[in-house]
Amino acid sequence: MSRERNSSSASGIIAASESMRSVLRAADDVAMAPTTVLLFGESGTGKEVIARYIHNHSLRAERSWVAVNCAAIPDDLLESELFGHERGAFTGAGERRTGRIEQAHLGTLLLDEISEMPLRLQAKLLRVLQEREIDRVGGQRPISVDVRVICTSNRSLEAMVAEKLFRADLYYRINVFPITLPPLRRRPDDIEPLTRHLLDEAAAALGRQTHDLAKESLELLHKYAFPGNVRELRNLLERALIRTKNGLIGPADLGLELGTIAAPGGLFAEPPSNHFPDGAPLDLTALEHLAIAEALRRAGGNRTHAARLLGIALRTLRNKLRETPTLAQPSRHLVRPAEVTPEHENFSAQLSQEDLHHETF
Ligand SMILES: Nc1ncnc2c1ncn2[C@@H]1O[C@H](COP(=O)(O)OP(=O)(O)OP(=O)(O)O)[C@@H](O)[C@H]1O
Ligand SMILES: [Mg+2]
Repeated sequence: MSRERNSSSASGIIAASESMRSVLRAADDVAMAPTTVLLFGESGTGKEVIARYIHNHSLRAERSWVAVNCAAIPDDLLESELFGHERGAFTGAGERRTGRIEQAHLGTLLLDEISEMPLRLQAKLLRVLQEREIDRVGGQRPISVDVRVICTSNRSLEAMVAEKLFRADLYYRINVFPITLPPLRRRPDDIEPLTRHLLDEAAAALGRQTHDLAKESLELLHKYAFPGNVRELRNLLERALIRTKNGLIGPADLGLELGTIAAPGGLFAEPPSNHFPDGAPLDLTALEHLAIAEALRRAGGNRTHAARLLGIALRTLRNKLRETPTLAQPSRHLVRPAEVTPEHENFSAQLSQEDLHHETF
């Protein structure tokens, strides 16, 4: 398996930017292990795409792939959907039903938007992960299951734990190998290859022969903040392809809202944020130092991981540390949750979910 890809054509995943390549490397690293994976990222960044990629590259690739969107199923139905029920277990439970967890036996179970799972079911899920057993609703005996679990979230589970909206014990159970998908606006190197790839896909689906993108259109896409990330880009290109008269997609065909176009330096056009409260230092060098120190802290001092978190080459990080040696000194804030064992530490050294809500810049 090549680790130096910039796109994975077989799986249709575009990863030209260093940060996406590092996501793919992490996915490759973990795919063959039975380890639970936690994928963080804003909506539309490609969490499901990466989850499928992990399954397809795992030893379970030929086995079942079962995806459950915890946010889409009403609370009162989710339990029997996940765990199944025995005949007559409750009013309306006519026939016995095999739950989605059981369906995923020997395969992979994707728990999409796990943050939306009610607390009561979180306790039941914890039992599945700990004991590898499920209890059907109304069942007499537990049933053994062997599932590889992948969870996604676009909310900060850490913050939810603090607010007692998510069980801490479940959080530590699933936060074994976290991978964070960067928002599209933070990986400009992906915009052009993604645009070409998605345009080809859309053209094939729409039965269009020729299409091309005007230079100005690409420039505009680079300035746009993409709050809906890759999904938004895909939809926007499909619309543009339908709109265009002569097969050449011009800026007007993109139909971008002026309000969402970033100011000069579009990359940094975040939604209104509190990352920089009034009076916060804006000196770029100082911010860079803060980011490096924080990355080293999160990576437990591991420079390879820290470089990955920062989206830069290890060599670049080394050079920066050589320029400012004090950065390499261990931070006073090196704390880890007590429940995370050293074995897990290696894995959790990757981007934590905090990044979704406290991106340094
Ligand atoms: N790197 C990529 N290369 C090619 N296509 C991508 C890539 N990332 C995302 N996509 C496409 O963008 C769309 C959104 O991706 P996906 O459904 O995986 O996002 P998500 O993070 O799961 O979103 P949500 O949080 O809304 O569920 C899909 O059509 C997917 O095929
Ligand atoms: Mg998804």
